[in-house]
Amino acid sequence: MGKTIVFKCGGSVIRELSDEFFENMKELAEEGWKIAVVHGGGPDITNMLKKLKIETEFVNGQRKTTKPVLEVAEMVLSGSINKFFVAELVKHGLSAVGVSGKDGGLLVADYLNENQYGQVGRIKKVNGRMVETLMEQGFIPVIAPLSMTENCETLNVNADLAASAVAGALNADKLMFVTDVKGIMKDENMISSITPEEIKRYISDGVIHGGMIPKVNSAVAALTDQVDEVMIVSGTGSFLAKHTFIGTKIRKQKEAVS
Ligand SMILES: Nc1ncnc2c1ncn2[C@@H]1O[C@H](COP(=O)(O)OP(=O)(O)OP(=O)(O)O)[C@@H](O)[C@H]1O
Ligand SMILES: [Mg+2]
Repeated sequence: MGKTIVFKCGGSVIRELSDEFFENMKELAEEGWKIAVVHGGGPDITNMLKKLKIETEFVNGQRKTTKPVLEVAEMVLSGSINKFFVAELVKHGLSAVGVSGKDGGLLVADYLNENQYGQVGRIKKVNGRMVETLMEQGFIPVIAPLSMTENCETLNVNADLAASAVAGALNADKLMFVTDVKGIMKDENMISSITPEEIKRYISDGVIHGGMIPKVNSAVAALTDQVDEVMIVSGTGSFLAKHTFIGTKIRKQKEAVS
């Protein structure tokens, strides 16, 4: 049985993904890995809101997803970014199908806190059947982070958390957070391997901050018996060399040094 790998590609890096990145993906597909992708899109949503002159409200440094903001977010995530990504994969010789978490009942969510965040969901249930069907047929599902409530209302979901939930539902062997840095950095050096305990410490002393916090928290949440390794890797270079993944490995325990 083929192994499954889930990639989360940050909005920060989608438009700068290197040819090596796609070649590495192709290599994995040729080795028989089943691949699924979840993507972000923050910067493109911000640009479109500016163009359309839609006012945005910030709560604790986070943009509140009002109904007009959600309309734009869905248009950008499910439309321009999702199809851009699909086209890039096809251009590099891979078969891809763009969907969102609303399709096939993939991501079912509840309001996280409507007063505080607006139309933002907390994922309640994941139904991976549609994604599995696509992967079995040789397609890479490219998933925009949107969800529906039981009443079919659309909610935006954090892409890091969506990727973690999808990896769990698919019993993925690996989850890769693709971003604009080489991995988790400390004093200008990349940390090659880190445990949840060390992550907690680095968050509290500020080594891990900003957008890296939801990412490492989603990574830790994804660690299960099946998903035993989550990685943070760069999308602007190569993440695979001679069958070895390059970046920061997040594991429950440190690897035994032989
Ligand atoms: N210790 C750390 N090591 C590496 N990056 C860190 C660290 N602490 C904070 N960061 C920040 O985290 C950023 C990556 O998270 P960010 O949320 O910006 O990207 P993304 O999730 O890939 O994209 P998006 O959120 O737009 O979808 C890095 O660019 C860096 O500024
Ligand atoms: Mg982010």
